[in-house]
Amino acid sequence: MSVRIAPSILSADFARLADAVARIEAGGADLVHVDVMDGHFVPNITIGPPVVAALKRVTTVPLDVHLMISDPDRYLEAFIEAGAAMITVHAEVLPHLHRTLTHIRALGAKAGAAINPSTPVPVIRDVVEQLDHLLVMSVNPGFGGQSFIPHSLRKIAEARDLLAGAPSPVAIEVDGGVDRENAAAIVRAGASILVAGASIFGAPDAAEATRALRRAATAA
Ligand code: DX5
Ligand code: ZN
Repeated sequence: MSVRIAPSILSADFARLADAVARIEAGGADLVHVDVMDGHFVPNITIGPPVVAALKRVTTVPLDVHLMISDPDRYLEAFIEAGAAMITVHAEVLPHLHRTLTHIRALGAKAGAAINPSTPVPVIRDVVEQLDHLLVMSVNPGFGGQSFIPHSLRKIAEARDLLAGAPSPVAIEVDGGVDRENAAAIVRAGASILVAGASIFGAPDAAEATRALRRAATAA
């Protein structure tokens, strides 16, 4: 299975985002993971559509926009117009998840649902056909640099089994505490997109750290 590496710019220097993106692009990043937080669904506040539009101007790598916000429906168009190729919304805030995922696709982006560490995998069972990817949070969302929660491996495997029956492939994305040490186990459990912030932008050279994460992941 081919693995996509999605460095999270949450741990980059926000005053030098173009440089950060250029470094991970040089390291062969497949996606740029953009963490949007509203200070409501999660305690932190980060960035909005204008920054996504600015990133879009400086990279050809697809933008993977993770919405950790309470009312994602209100902002889908703005993020997709700004250049998001993938949009991920949290299942916990959406009573009409089917409608939201359908809307994301209709607007021309890949649609994903995210589940927190305390959210059971089967919550997405009845929207499998509307999903391009499932994001399994392996930390509680809100901050970069946290430690991978070990029981996430069981959830990834459970998701892989559940999604095996999907009519078209659904990628499993894992986000939080991913590094060179745990990447192989995460891929073995069933993930094909690895998000990594601190382990890439906390390294001396983000390009080399991107390559090193891919090597670790593909040694699985
Ligand atoms: C956490 C975010 C993550 C975060 C991951 O709420 O969704 O994308 O940037 O960062 P690390 O890899 O540092 O855990
Ligand atoms: Zn994220």
